[in-house]
Amino acid sequence: MQSGTTTTIHDPKNPEHIKTFTFDLAYWSHSGFQRDKDGVLIPTGSDSGFAGQRDIFRDLGQGVLDSAWQGYNATLLAYGQTGSGKSYSMIGYGADKGMIPNVCEELFKATENREKNQQYQVTFSMLEIYNEQVRDLLSKIQKPGGLKVREDQHQGFYVDGLTYVPCDSYAQIERLMEQGIKARTTAATSMNTTSSRSHMVITIQFKQIFLDGELTKQSTINLVDLAGSERQKSSGSEGDRLREGSRVNLSLTTLGNVISALADVAMGKRVLHIPYRDSVLTRLLQSALGGNSKTIMIAAISPADICYEETLSTLRYAERTKKIKNKAVINTSPTEKLIKELKAENNRLLCRLAGLGNSGKTVADKTKELEYLLAKNQLRLQTIQITWERQLEEARQEWEEQYSAAMQERQMTKTFPYLFNVNEDPQLTGVLKHFIQSGSSDVGQATSNKIVLQGLGISDKHATFTNMDGEVTVTPQKKCRVVVNGVPTVTETKLQHLDRVILGSNSAYLYVGFPSERSSNDWVRFDYDFFQSELAAAEGVSIDKFGAINNKGGKVDPSVLAVFQDYIKLIPLVAEANQMSEELMKGLKLELKVKNLASADSTGYDLQKEVIVKVTNRETQEVWMWSKAKFINRKYLMEEIYQHFLDGEDIHVAQEDDPFWDPVEAIHLGSAHVWLQSLAYCMKLEEQAELLNSEGLEEAVVLINIIPCSGTGEAYGEDDVVIDPSELLGKRIDFQIQIIQCLGIKWLKEDARRGIQIGYKVYDLPITLYTKPVWKNVNAKIEETVHFVALNASHKFLNYLQKNALIVDLWGLQEGCAELNCTKKDLITWEGNILVDNMKTLTAQEANQATSNQMAELYLKLLKLEQETELLRNINRALREENVLLKDSLKGCGPGQDHKLSSASRITAQAVSRRNTPPTYPPRTSCDADFAKAPKVFYQSMNIVRGQFLKLRHNRPPEDDHMLRPFTQRQSHLLKDIGELLEASLWKLKNDVALIVKKKRESLVLTKYRGSSFP
Ligand SMILES: Nc1ncnc2c1ncn2[C@@H]1O[C@H](COP(=O)(O)OP(=O)(O)OP(=O)(O)O)[C@@H](O)[C@H]1O
Ligand SMILES: [Mg+2]
Repeated sequence: MQSGTTTTIHDPKNPEHIKTFTFDLAYWSHSGFQRDKDGVLIPTGSDSGFAGQRDIFRDLGQGVLDSAWQGYNATLLAYGQTGSGKSYSMIGYGADKGMIPNVCEELFKATENREKNQQYQVTFSMLEIYNEQVRDLLSKIQKPGGLKVREDQHQGFYVDGLTYVPCDSYAQIERLMEQGIKARTTAATSMNTTSSRSHMVITIQFKQIFLDGELTKQSTINLVDLAGSERQKSSGSEGDRLREGSRVNLSLTTLGNVISALADVAMGKRVLHIPYRDSVLTRLLQSALGGNSKTIMIAAISPADICYEETLSTLRYAERTKKIKNKAVINTSPTEKLIKELKAENNRLLCRLAGLGNSGKTVADKTKELEYLLAKNQLRLQTIQITWERQLEEARQEWEEQYSAAMQERQMTKTFPYLFNVNEDPQLTGVLKHFIQSGSSDVGQATSNKIVLQGLGISDKHATFTNMDGEVTVTPQKKCRVVVNGVPTVTETKLQHLDRVILGSNSAYLYVGFPSERSSNDWVRFDYDFFQSELAAAEGVSIDKFGAINNKGGKVDPSVLAVFQDYIKLIPLVAEANQMSEELMKGLKLELKVKNLASADSTGYDLQKEVIVKVTNRETQEVWMWSKAKFINRKYLMEEIYQHFLDGEDIHVAQEDDPFWDPVEAIHLGSAHVWLQSLAYCMKLEEQAELLNSEGLEEAVVLINIIPCSGTGEAYGEDDVVIDPSELLGKRIDFQIQIIQCLGIKWLKEDARRGIQIGYKVYDLPITLYTKPVWKNVNAKIEETVHFVALNASHKFLNYLQKNALIVDLWGLQEGCAELNCTKKDLITWEGNILVDNMKTLTAQEANQATSNQMAELYLKLLKLEQETELLRNINRALREENVLLKDSLKGCGPGQDHKLSSASRITAQAVSRRNTPPTYPPRTSCDADFAKAPKVFYQSMNIVRGQFLKLRHNRPPEDDHMLRPFTQRQSHLLKDIGELLEASLWKLKNDVALIVKKKRESLVLTKYRGSSFP
């Protein structure tokens, strides 16, 4: 929410959490608008609160222009995350012209009323900084490695060799901008280094020459459209071995550091160093940021919930920037004086050169430097002296050529069907058009093709488009990737108006049909994300699959939506990485995966999902799992090497610097949930748990037992079961985890040389325990038993046992990788067991958090427990009464009085004494014993039912359609099994109870009978 000068932001997760920021100006442009007859967005009414492009220009642009007229330097920077509206504000879209066109247009309008004794000179330059390289967007020839940024005592930092085009009309600037954006797009499409990762700097030099006073007033206007701010964090923030390697975000990071340092200076803090020199962007903007310039920063923010974190970070960034205070001065210089100065300096340089002597390395270096300075001064002198008119005339000729080419292209769009490029950055979409003229047109990288297309994965001759009999078709060359509307095609395919065509790994084009076909003009809908979503959908990936629709009225969970968007954004990047790997012969296969797609935490809740990249070496079958951040970082580094490869340079890198290489590591393959509830009842659990991968597919089966036992490790039997886990509170609990075997391991079926380890973490143990590695065995025998003991079982521990599962992780080992540390030496006590539920292992913070989170929960539990206690008391009372009755009846039966205790009290007594005495198993004779056993048996069956149910829940449908039938069959078998088991258990319980009731009645009848016979 914005108003006047304040911006207020609500945390979507915590709506009461509101933050307000104050700036010089704040605007809202998300709602309250309509289009006027020219297609410009305007407010719907005086109270709509909408700010359009003209409003922004009036408030900011006019100030920039006024500064220029007065001879101040001015700079306008747009900062913000991708898609937040930086380019919209700076350049604009269609009729909604942004700041740059508006400033230029107004500047020329004002110069039209020029005075006779004044001359105005406007030059225009446009450059892009990508990966610390400067690309001149107005030059036809691109220098490999880009242009150099040099420093000069007059000019400060400047780009050596940059094209400055003299202009005398706004139309000329419009055409130049078009040309620049086209150059940017061509570079982006041919390299696939999407341009929203680059910064664009437009510089307008405005000179007013007062002919009578021989005075020149000069202003430099820098207009900067920065790369998306989130890129700064998207890579390198996480433990990648090569995180320092990529320079792609260096400029943005350094800009942040410079702004922080300058803000500190403004606050009166002592700052030793402002790191201007650390990046290309900050060198170029040095005077704009901390010196002679009136500088404005536009912080663009998005109103979307999922952008909250980024928006907050942008606002904080802007807040810091606000503190900086620049000292702008009017730049005037007597024109003649400058010439004189340059001449004098040249003479000085010549003298120094003459005095240097002619031998020695330092002399040679110095000579070179002086000669360079001389040449440069000479050039400046020439530039000043060549008449402005001549320069203008040359630029005008070039402009006319460009203009007629643009007119010709415009004419052709009215006649022929064509393809236009669709880029991740909407600013670059629709810039390149390829016409499909009558007959057949080959498409590919080779210049012999009718349509020459650069791009990753595009072959020399890639496909043929045919325009015949009012129909256009595309036929891919053998093995060349052509995707139409998300589906790869290998045969001749007819194209319809607005079909989506992807050529090579990721060059996206929208097909525009014959003029007669163009009924719908809804082109905007088919943006870059549409292409990627279509590809994903064709591969069976959808929001539904990610589980985004939860039960709350079908509302999409924002965190899942964010993962889906990540997935969509990464599809093209992964395709590009695969293509680079292929061309550079690195032999890697990269695949997108979703971590925790079907995984749950130890309490059964879905885990936070995240996109990861599985990397496989096709030759060695080695596998790695890369996080999103690591992948993005690696992708930047891959691009650097690939660019060297395209430039024909040596691309050899040491293995440890190779982004395509990593040391082999253990891979997490899947996990199983082993519910611990039976332990809370002192019941043995023997599980055959399925180890499911993150997509819910079986990786292996683990045989695992969890056995309650005595301190010396003897397993407890059936009769040690407790009815109420709270009986164990404060007692010692011993149990063993036995991992016996892992069966049918897919990881080993794929490659028999591999190995596995199993990891699990019990309750509050600070580390994960791993079993010893087992290599080269599909059915790995593990046979490991670990004895755990809780000396003084806490509430929390008992609660954990009842509500949580032990998560058993399967780790895949591969040749040459470090095994996971499986020694438990440090944890094992002198008794040979491992202590759990040991308060000391809880950190203070955890304890604190646990307290606050659980207070409310505990209160509810307490209430429930009280109710349960009341119920148990009633049962107890009933049983006691019954006991009295039975005792009485038994009195009459003679010997055997030892067996009179009810089983309910026996179980309790045993639970108390279990620690020290070996269990005794008196024979069960009364119905009470049966009564206690029946729910126990029922509980065990229910446990199995629950296990099966969980399996079913995590069983994901296969992606192949033909696999769907066996899947559904298996699913219905599983359901049938559960149903039958449930029926059988209920039937058994009913029978048991009926039997007990019957027995009881008989015994009562007997008692009564005896009572009446023997009063
Ligand atoms: N104020 C606005 N009014 C209307 N549309 C807007 C506005 N701001 C942005 N948009 C639209 O949002 C989309 C993304 O905006 P834009 O291209 O300006 O983002 P950006 O900040 O430059 O992103 P990137 O970092 O990727 O270059 C565009 O389609 C643009 O038309
Ligand atoms: Mg942009």
